[in-house]
Amino acid sequence: MFFDRGPSLTELAVQALSSVEHGYDLLAPKFDATPFRTPGPFLDAVVSAVRPLGPFRTGLDVCCGTGAGVRALRRVCEERVTGLDFSPGMLAQARRAFAGVPSDSGGAPDVEWVRADARALPFDEVFDLATSFGAFGHFLPTERPAVFAGVHAALRPGGLFVFPLPAPARVGSLPYWAMWGFDAAMRVRNAVWRPPFVMYYRTFGLPDALRELADAGFSVRLRAAESFGRRADGAPRCLTVLARKA
Ligand SMILES: C[S@@+](CC[C@H](N)C(=O)[O-])C[C@H]1O[C@@H](n2cnc3c(N)ncnc32)[C@H](O)[C@@H]1O
Repeated sequence: MFFDRGPSLTELAVQALSSVEHGYDLLAPKFDATPFRTPGPFLDAVVSAVRPLGPFRTGLDVCCGTGAGVRALRRVCEERVTGLDFSPGMLAQARRAFAGVPSDSGGAPDVEWVRADARALPFDEVFDLATSFGAFGHFLPTERPAVFAGVHAALRPGGLFVFPLPAPARVGSLPYWAMWGFDAAMRVRNAVWRPPFVMYYRTFGLPDALRELADAGFSVRLRAAESFGRRADGAPRCLTVLARKA
């Protein structure tokens, strides 16, 4: 499936019948050979949006997986970057991938890994910058306020929470029906099978982001990620959301 080194269809099915946490434990060794790992252009868009707003001493990547966002944060943070995830398998994979990375080499920030649930973040005003890539679909709309409140609490005053937000697929297009079908299949699966595997593509859009981030205490700016181009109506195909803690 996906690439030569990627998971087989059977492996993906077994993973999808597990909990989110255990499903990612199983997927971890092959995760980097799937399209679920955030591709470089999304990471680059965030890096180029935040670089002029620095300097940043410390960074947090929420739901870090195997470390794609941690690698991006290391390009803009000076002292320490923390990757947080609740899957021990993903964290083990990330640790392995960063094993050769010096922890305290003049200039490069330290990297640390924390196992915790993003719905109950264990930090109090210790980060200047927080990011999250490709994980909002794992939270039910009722769970997101706790995630955003936790990120807000984890940031120092003036800290920034930044993430890419692709435009919704055009109604009727192939990606629109693919995501619609995936979400419908997930709803059926979660109605008949335990534990649930929460992953929905169509539950977090721009109006939700603006409202929920404001409720958590952020002031929000949007920046077009121009490298993704624009739709026929002129709207950006991808936005970078920059949410600042007052
Ligand atoms: C699609 S992967 C994205 C990984 C990485 N951010 C990337 O872009 O390559 C989603 C990640 O979110 C993590 N995750 C999902 N729900 C979580 C939660 N409640 N707390 C912590 N991590 C969570 C999973 O374990 C998985 O590593």
